[in-house]
Amino acid sequence: MSGTPAEWAETMPNQDLAIVILAAGKGTRLKSSLAKVLHRAGGRSLVEHIVRACEPLKAREVVVVVGHQAEQVGAVVEPLGAVTVLQQPQHGTGHGMQVAKRALGRAKFAVVLPGDAPLIRTETLKALIAAHRNGDAAATILSAVLADPSGYGRVVRKSETTVSAIVEESQLTGEQSEINEINSAIYCFTLEKLWPALAQVKPNNKYRELYLTDAIGVLSGKGETVLAQVAADSREVLGCNTRADLAEVDRVFREWKRAELMSSGVTIQLPETVLIDPDVSASEDTVIEPGVQLLGKTKIGARCTIRTGSVLTDALLGDDVIVEPHCVVAQSRLDERVIIGPFARLRGETHLKADARIGNFVELKKSTVGEGTKAMHLTYLGDAKIGTKTNIGAGTITCNYDGFHKYPTTIGNKVFVGSDSTLVAPVRLGDGAYVAAGSTITDNVPADALGIARGRQATKPGWASKKRRELAAAEKPRKSSRRSKKKSRRRPGKRK
Ligand code: UD1
Ligand code: MG
Repeated sequence: MSGTPAEWAETMPNQDLAIVILAAGKGTRLKSSLAKVLHRAGGRSLVEHIVRACEPLKAREVVVVVGHQAEQVGAVVEPLGAVTVLQQPQHGTGHGMQVAKRALGRAKFAVVLPGDAPLIRTETLKALIAAHRNGDAAATILSAVLADPSGYGRVVRKSETTVSAIVEESQLTGEQSEINEINSAIYCFTLEKLWPALAQVKPNNKYRELYLTDAIGVLSGKGETVLAQVAADSREVLGCNTRADLAEVDRVFREWKRAELMSSGVTIQLPETVLIDPDVSASEDTVIEPGVQLLGKTKIGARCTIRTGSVLTDALLGDDVIVEPHCVVAQSRLDERVIIGPFARLRGETHLKADARIGNFVELKKSTVGEGTKAMHLTYLGDAKIGTKTNIGAGTITCNYDGFHKYPTTIGNKVFVGSDSTLVAPVRLGDGAYVAAGSTITDNVPADALGIARGRQATKPGWASKKRRELAAAEKPRKSSRRSKKKSRRRPGKRK
């Protein structure tokens, strides 16, 4: 084995440690048909954030206690390596812990987390575990000091370092409601001490639930060591019980993500207006203007500009790309120096090669655009493969769908497609071909040929002035009769 002992500790599994995430509750206070832990904040479901924060702890087991919408919760956490146990019905957080017992194997310690406090960071959990081990405690609570502690259980201290109980909000005495140190519902337990204490807990509350928090009082009463470690950043323990809590947690996640990108050299203007998902990356000297959303697995190169109002989802941008205002890009790749927009829409599977230029009101779907090719105005390109240095005129449409199937359009290099042309797929335009403006192209146009498919123009000299004279003559009698009617209408009014 190479590396220092500290490095081994980083990578070695914690064989004596298990993680329990309590995620069975419905979340009544959200007023939702979706289970609470499946609600999203900061670009992920709540429970996914928590499983990911626990991953680097390398516990022997990550057990997620599921109940409401168990299958859907399982579908989120199982691919991340967690196992689920079913708590049905849900008789409280203490009961949830009892249900998890069998899945914990030979773990000596367990870190227990609620499924609704997703801002928790790995470093904080590591510090909690270290405090628990060093203090030889039966339980160590992660607490926080909040200006407004309402809604949370309060930590009742026995001494400066130890705790005598956690009291739920509904059970606070007048004096206890002054306490502003709250229970995060994140704990480290020594399991051989927890189980007998939990067995003594009674459902002494109006919901008839077994509260895990009551095991703290039992442990302390038995003279066991119960510690509380105050979180350095109290935002990490924010729980999501209401929609307002969800919005607040989302705001914090987004703020952290923007700070991460800014510290790696990205400029973000009016940062509070910019929404960035957790897996997004951007390189140095990229500028993001107000009101931009960068979603999914979007990856942006160096020195790009993403201008106001643009929404990029799973987009891959090379260096020096410019996205003008109000573009919508999904599952597409833009190589170096591409410029799109304003008002361009790139739907899935589009690849714009270096120096391509896509202008306003241009929509692309499943299309490849070659280097230096331009489509500047009012165009739809679907299932099209276009070569290099081609010009697609304003209003060009690929007719790729006949109501049943989609067909490809292939356009070569240095092709000139005149404005307002429709290309009825399947169809090919060879290298260097021309398409005359206003054509409906149904047959292939070979290389260097002209494709012209439109009605011939007929020009009739003097036709317009003759027409105007005819129309004026027809108008005269009608105009005079209208005037006389108006006069006759006014007269009776004046007499009154
Ligand atoms: C809980 C704590 C409270 C703490 C707060 C922090 C208890 C009794 N209270 O209150 O001291 O300040 O978290 O956010 O623990 N769950 C189950 N099975 C159940 C009941 C709940 O798995 O039978 C899960 C829920 O899905 C949720 C978590 O446990 O993810 C916490 O439950 P919740 O109802 O949110 O408890 P709080 O009222 O927030
Ligand atoms: Mg809660």
